[in-house]
Amino acid sequence: MNIFREPKKLQKWCRARKAAGAKIALVPTMGYLHEGHISLITAAKRRKADEIVVSVFVNPVQFGPNEDYAKYPRDEKADLAKCKAAGATAVFFPTPENMYLDRHSVYVNEEDLSKGLCGARRPGHFRGVCTVVAKLFNLTHPDFAVFGQKDYQQAQIIKRMVRDLNFDLDVVLAPIVREASGLARSSRNTYLSSAEKGAALAISRSLKELQTDAKKAVKAGKPLDAGKMSAKVSEALKAAGLKVDYVECVDASTLEPVKTLSSGTCVLVAVYDGKTRLIDNVLI
Ligand code: PAF
Repeated sequence: MNIFREPKKLQKWCRARKAAGAKIALVPTMGYLHEGHISLITAAKRRKADEIVVSVFVNPVQFGPNEDYAKYPRDEKADLAKCKAAGATAVFFPTPENMYLDRHSVYVNEEDLSKGLCGARRPGHFRGVCTVVAKLFNLTHPDFAVFGQKDYQQAQIIKRMVRDLNFDLDVVLAPIVREASGLARSSRNTYLSSAEKGAALAISRSLKELQTDAKKAVKAGKPLDAGKMSAKVSEALKAAGLKVDYVECVDASTLEPVKTLSSGTCVLVAVYDGKTRLIDNVLI
């Protein structure tokens, strides 16, 4: 497995591999890899990529001033071993200094899908995500890049960026990977005490219930009211001791709020569990 730290070296290698006819997959991550990330590498293997490049970079530009950039978990050695075992062929470990040169002044701003949900609560977050992902696309020229459905809004924004800026690649969305308890896998789960982990189970439980009820109602031709269902999920989350940031029912492609839950609806949740912000979602 190749290990790169210098953007230029990665770019040169990817260019050479591409010229030799290799199909390149990019799996962008912030490291501290778990089963969710491994499933992205597996999805790349399944699509028969010749080269699977995993980037491991805690991108400072996507964190707000009061967020967890400094304490975000990092473990380079373990990440390398996991990438190798999962079948990655290259890992990119840049530093903030070589990704953002002195007086870096160009950013990518998506201005439609980023308005609501996490975009409204984390100003500048998606600007940071789009900028780093655009840089990674330019460094690797992948045939496709794999993102997880857990970050649903992020994935839709990246798709829009690819469309609007004419990046020549496919965006592949991989399903959410959950712990046996139902909790969506996240590097941030490591912050949770066991009591907080217990409380967090209300997220997947209430979303699953809503998904089941909503599907039944669609089948019966009587779709559920989005406002009432959001309120019901919010109550369940609060009852478990979580602080609700949002529960929203949106159109899965425009991310605009919907009035009833149909087969094209995504229900997204963000909560604070103690100090830890957790997100999750289901598609109806
Ligand atoms: O989803 C993440 O881990 C990050 O937002 C990403 C896409 C790697 C960009 O830093």
